[in-house]
Amino acid sequence: MKITVNEAKQRLLSGEIVAIPTETVYGLAAWLLEEQAINAIFTLKGRPAHNPLILHIANKEACYQFVSELPSGFSALADAFWPGPLTLVLPIKEETIPAVARASLPTAAFRVPSHPLTLQLLQQVQPLVAPSANMSGSPSGTKPEHVEHDFGQNFPVVDGGAAQHGVESTILLHNEGVWQIARLGAISPEMLANVLGYTPEIVQKNEGKIVCPGQLLQHYAPQARLQLAEIPQQKNFVVGYASRHYEGAKKVYILGNLNDPEGVSHRLYDTLRQLDQDGVLEAWIDMAIPEYGLWKTIRERLSRAASR
Ligand code: TXA
Ligand code: MG
Repeated sequence: MKITVNEAKQRLLSGEIVAIPTETVYGLAAWLLEEQAINAIFTLKGRPAHNPLILHIANKEACYQFVSELPSGFSALADAFWPGPLTLVLPIKEETIPAVARASLPTAAFRVPSHPLTLQLLQQVQPLVAPSANMSGSPSGTKPEHVEHDFGQNFPVVDGGAAQHGVESTILLHNEGVWQIARLGAISPEMLANVLGYTPEIVQKNEGKIVCPGQLLQHYAPQARLQLAEIPQQKNFVVGYASRHYEGAKKVYILGNLNDPEGVSHRLYDTLRQLDQDGVLEAWIDMAIPEYGLWKTIRERLSRAASR
């Protein structure tokens, strides 16, 4: 059910959950001050309580009241990429953020999304906690129809069209003086290196501790069984690229062009969801793709989608 920004605001302030568009993927939003609504998000998504949420804010200054210390490089990153698909994990004053939103961690993840409708909403009610709008483990929702498919036709959604990037924000955290990538996303390591002066390392653990709880869980997977291959073998259903020919394939799901990673990421989850819509049980994914830039994120998402 499509709702206006103003209706979304009213619902959020009265403790309801609404779906909001962002430039990465759709989010299921609750107001930070409505703990019951935050709890309801976990139930609705089937999300484990140990997987914290991202706080969406209207501008950089809006995180200052929660943060205990701003790591060096914070302003350079925020000024370069906010509003936009970058999430920064920052140390917080614990009493300012309900434990449920941050899975009881001493940090919280912040981002300023750039979608104009959601920015407009955030100027009236913030922070909004918002995980991706999908059942936990499944491909994220990148269109209002995806949200309605997963949560029902009557679920309130602000229609912001198809999400521009189609993959989630890049998550950075600060450790021992440097920024590290906790989740690959719409902003590539190369783009970050331009601002930081070094290429941030991609990490799963620091001193044996998992840095990003969500990264360990099953993720982005459709019902269809996915097989990764440099050259797709058994070619009934193939997820591949426009310029390639897949001899003998029954149907090819085109992710886009090999010279256009932005277009590929834009269509990624929509394509994985399409397999399920069509009742495809098994598909081969063409993994003969580059390993740099946004392709790194695309690779990671496809690999994760195939492992269950
Ligand atoms: O693009 C995005 O980031 C989208 C849109 C809606 O903004 N949101 C999104 O949220 O992807 P979600 O909940 O699907 O993923 C959030 C990720 C999880 O992997 C979670 O573990 C991690 O952020 N995260 C949240 N707080 C964290 C923290 N304090 N430390 C480390 N990781 C954190
Ligand atoms: Mg998610």
